[in-house]
Amino acid sequence: LAGGIAHDFNNLLTAILGYSEIMLSLTKEGDQFYKPVTIIQNAAEKGAELAKKILTITRKEKMETRPVDINEVVKNSMELLQRSIPMSIEIVTNLREDLPKIKADPSQMQQVIMNLCVNARDAMPHGGIIQVKAQNRILDEQYSRMNLEAKPGSYVEVSITDAGMGMPPEILERIFEPFFTTKAIGKGTGLGLSTAYAIVKSHGGFINVYSEVGKGTTFRVYIPAQTEGKVPTLGEKHDHPLGRGELILVVDDEAAIREITRATLEAYGYSVVTAIDGTEAIAIYVEQKDSIALVLTDMMMPFLDGTATVRALQKINPQVKILVVSGLTQNAPSSTFSGEKTVRFLHKPFTSETLLTELRLLLESSDEPMGRH
Ligand SMILES: Nc1ncnc2c1ncn2[C@@H]1O[C@H](COP(=O)(O)OP(=O)(O)OP(=O)(O)O)[C@@H](O)[C@H]1O
Ligand SMILES: [Mg+2]
Repeated sequence: LAGGIAHDFNNLLTAILGYSEIMLSLTKEGDQFYKPVTIIQNAAEKGAELAKKILTITRKEKMETRPVDINEVVKNSMELLQRSIPMSIEIVTNLREDLPKIKADPSQMQQVIMNLCVNARDAMPHGGIIQVKAQNRILDEQYSRMNLEAKPGSYVEVSITDAGMGMPPEILERIFEPFFTTKAIGKGTGLGLSTAYAIVKSHGGFINVYSEVGKGTTFRVYIPAQTEGKVPTLGEKHDHPLGRGELILVVDDEAAIREITRATLEAYGYSVVTAIDGTEAIAIYVEQKDSIALVLTDMMMPFLDGTATVRALQKINPQVKILVVSGLTQNAPSSTFSGEKTVRFLHKPFTSETLLTELRLLLESSDEPMGRH
């Protein structure tokens, strides 16, 4: 309850802060209103800090966990949301009956889902569809090396997807900051996502975001699943698509990621050479282009970035197959390489299953350029 009041209280403070800012810009130092407005502004800032403290404290003492069926939480959230969702927006849920339970505070989880759905609504002022999906996901070592918040294990994933305005990287980087908002004065406090983040963290989980400007956004919430005694075996071989001895050139400036990718690929029937940056990748490719079947490259690297590396490789061999890996807060590379059949994308973080599936798809796509007989 205190948390809810603090959130509303912040709405009021945002309006006071916003308007005192406007008033300040209309007065000059020495002006009769200058000092009073500065005092109002300072007081409101102190109030905002106080509200922030209340939010953190209430979160700590009020957590009451029990085994929770996330489907129930989603259904309850949908009922509550009906009232605040306009006719132009439809929420489509995609739930699975066989989901494991999570150890959670149901009302807090509900708040997370509601906050994300309200943001999705706000991102689609002209209406559209919000998709809410729940599924079980096994995250492995490959995944957790790319996302240090994620320990390998079994998770329940809830994803909320909108087809709204999306976010550019400079906004995406800041969305979990308390009080960060792009909404008009009085419309947003910038606490929805920071609250969601804190709740999910306290449940041992994490949140991933994928967004493309003009296309939409997906938030994925991961909460550890309660595995009744049986911990999923991560080292053991799974039923993933196997390689046929093809040589893969792995390019990444992070040693931990190069290593785990090499280990995964070698365990599933590939040979691997690695390069620590684009320059080295090109040197290796020039020498071994007849034996390298595919290049797996990170988008963001020092010296020569992913795009430049791809272009240089294509100069050497226009048919070179490249799997481009992009990070969370980067521009989606899909538009840069749109229409290029020899380039596919993987969004970080990914599991070995996703990596192996994407590799097979690209390797088995036709080698022949279009129009040749
Ligand atoms: N689904 C989304 N699509 C586009 N932008 C989003 C989305 N979700 C969040 N954002 C951006 O992140 C910012 C922060 O979101 P957050 O929920 O923390 O605050 P808010 O919605 O602005 O205010 P509050 O939730 O406190 O009412 C938003 O102002 C918006 O710019
Ligand atoms: Mg919000």
